[in-house]
Amino acid sequence: MGRDVGWNGCRLQPLFMSTIIILQLVLVVESKCDFFTGTWVLDPSYPLYRPEMCPFIEHEFACQRNGRPDQLYTHFRWQPLQHCSFLRFNGVDFLERMRGKSIMFVGDSLSRNQWQSLTCTLHSSIPSSNYTLTRIDDLSIFTFTEYGVKVMLDRNVYLVDVVRQERGRVLKLDSIQGAKIWLGIDLLIFNTWHWWNRRGPSQPWDYIQLGNDVYRDMDRMKAFQIALSTWASWVNTHIDPSKVHLFFQGISPSHYNGTLWNEPSAKSCVRQQTPVAGSTYLGGLPPAVAVLKSVLAKMKNPVTLLDITTLSLLRKDGHPSIYGLNGPTGLDCSHWCLPGVPDTWNQILYNLIL
Ligand SMILES: *[C@@H]1O[C@H](CO)[C@@H](O)[C@H](O)[C@H]1NC(C)=O
Ligand SMILES: *[C@@H]1O[C@H](CO)[C@@H](O)[C@H](O)[C@H]1NC(C)=O
Repeated sequence: MGRDVGWNGCRLQPLFMSTIIILQLVLVVESKCDFFTGTWVLDPSYPLYRPEMCPFIEHEFACQRNGRPDQLYTHFRWQPLQHCSFLRFNGVDFLERMRGKSIMFVGDSLSRNQWQSLTCTLHSSIPSSNYTLTRIDDLSIFTFTEYGVKVMLDRNVYLVDVVRQERGRVLKLDSIQGAKIWLGIDLLIFNTWHWWNRRGPSQPWDYIQLGNDVYRDMDRMKAFQIALSTWASWVNTHIDPSKVHLFFQGISPSHYNGTLWNEPSAKSCVRQQTPVAGSTYLGGLPPAVAVLKSVLAKMKNPVTLLDITTLSLLRKDGHPSIYGLNGPTGLDCSHWCLPGVPDTWNQILYNLIL
């Protein structure tokens, strides 16, 4: 009897072990799946929601309400090149998983773009569900009442502080008091970049300060890198990565120069109606991507990069152009129409937290 057990044990054990090893390999392959390299394919089952199902889309992203005549751009689905499972966004499943939890986007209007995309996608998946939308200063809170899920937006364009002093408005690269309201949130998605290159009247600061040194200006990429490092050390010391999902939205690209997508006659994204075919973008990546990646790579607490730059670079057709905030006289090739490209950023976010 004892001999039999031993014999069975000997025979079963290798089988058992190899099953575990195979399972582990499958898990490793799954978790290494690259969602960020791929191509856009036409899929009539997209978009995930009709614009009229989302009455709270803000004017600046509501391209169809603003008169954009073409709709082909809403019917593209992102297809990662690797044969990994990349699920369609399931709003009910997302709300169930996040029941009682809070999500916060922190950043500039590209964060607002992604926040609106998420609230639209979730609301349209359960249109009968009650919600409230409130705004207190720079904080917007969209609550799915029955689920107790809060989807928030903290408008904070530099992540570090801008303070008013006697000499003027000072951008303090090593001060991050605004971070207080990020505590206690279950899922954080940060972003900053677009405001670092602002100059002239739309630049919301007069001086830059680092330690005791005050500057009129400095290399903007350097300032961006220092501020990101300030943010990184705040995350390293104040966030418990076992309790909080941490993401960085990544660098959302603009389309103002057709040479970069091999169409030199195009001076902007106006009248672009289809994505760039294939998986690569002639113009390459904006330099800010490398700076961001180097800061994230050195962090003690891991922050997952939503590396959406390349997939969005391919979407020269996805911007409001003359159907955005300032209408026909404006030109917006930086933000994204909704429904549109940020829905895919959220689909990737969904697949990453599954
Ligand atoms: C929404 O709120 C109303 C009024 O409070 C309530 O009657 C209704 O049942 C709620 N809807 C859902 C889906 O719970
Ligand atoms: C567009 O990009 C090309 C290639 O980098 C560059 O040579 C050209 O100066 C750019 N045009 C504008 C208007 O910035």
